[in-house]
Amino acid sequence: MKVHVLGSGAGGGFPQWNCNCANCAKFRSGELVAHARTQSSITVSADGIDWVLINASPDIREQIGAFPPLQPGRAVRDTGIRAVILMDSQIDHTTGLLSLREGDTLDLYCTDRVYEDLTTGFPVLDMLGHYCGVNWHPIPINGESFTIPSIEALVFTAVPLSSKAPPYSPHRKDPRAGDNIGLRVEDPVSARNLFYAPGLGQMEDHLLPYMENADCLLVDGTLWTDDEMQRRGVGHKLGSEMGHLSQSEPGGIIDLLRPLRKPRKVLIHINNTNPILDENSTERAQLKKEGIEVAHDGMDILL
Ligand code: MLT
Ligand code: MN
Ligand code: ZN
Repeated sequence: MKVHVLGSGAGGGFPQWNCNCANCAKFRSGELVAHARTQSSITVSADGIDWVLINASPDIREQIGAFPPLQPGRAVRDTGIRAVILMDSQIDHTTGLLSLREGDTLDLYCTDRVYEDLTTGFPVLDMLGHYCGVNWHPIPINGESFTIPSIEALVFTAVPLSSKAPPYSPHRKDPRAGDNIGLRVEDPVSARNLFYAPGLGQMEDHLLPYMENADCLLVDGTLWTDDEMQRRGVGHKLGSEMGHLSQSEPGGIIDLLRPLRKPRKVLIHINNTNPILDENSTERAQLKKEGIEVAHDGMDILL
């Protein structure tokens, strides 16, 4: 299985268009050793030809431009994207669907909760009905695996997890199972699997077997500290209010990953305020000591 990171940033990307936080400002002035990051999306394939897009970010046009396997190569109108899976209905994971409107009917895999948000609070799927049309495939969240017809070589299993529905969702303050998922992607031929959870609000017992048994984890790297947005002077929201477990605090992502022996550990969905973006930071060095990597746009993982 090939995993390609299209976008490793959180909502807003890095640098964010209107942000002058220490990271964004220093990146622009060239004082920071760091890489720009587009918004949250990965793509996976068994054969390198047919790909599943996991999340459709507002930066999708640039992301496809940077990754030839998704570009047209076989017909006058063509794409390597065979289907789209959504982890939630957040803006940074769904607005890219609008940019796929010129294509064929979209095979879209998401939970019934996400489908509801995308046909009410943000009715993008209704809108796409007037362009390419959407063929919705509900994702089970009861532990049942599913396959995708054009990508039969991979097996997908979604697990519900506590994060947050988007601010526009009628269910922002009324969380329900299926608002957010983690996703295991297995390649039965290589017998290896990925567990992807770009929004992980808290650790829950049912997630542990998925995380322990993964060959690679791509998990929530949004914030270093829960109050980071406040510390950086860019807002008042806490990570915990946004459904993101921070990395450095007791019981945070680093503590959670430490006992896991099997998986390669990679953080993804990095917010522009996060000090780990600075490759010379003590925080980045601390991650390295813990054996934790930071995803970057264009990163390839072979499983
Ligand atoms: C989040 O994960 O909380 C989102 O990135 C917020 C957003 O879309 O701006
Ligand atoms: Mn996000
Ligand atoms: Zn910033």
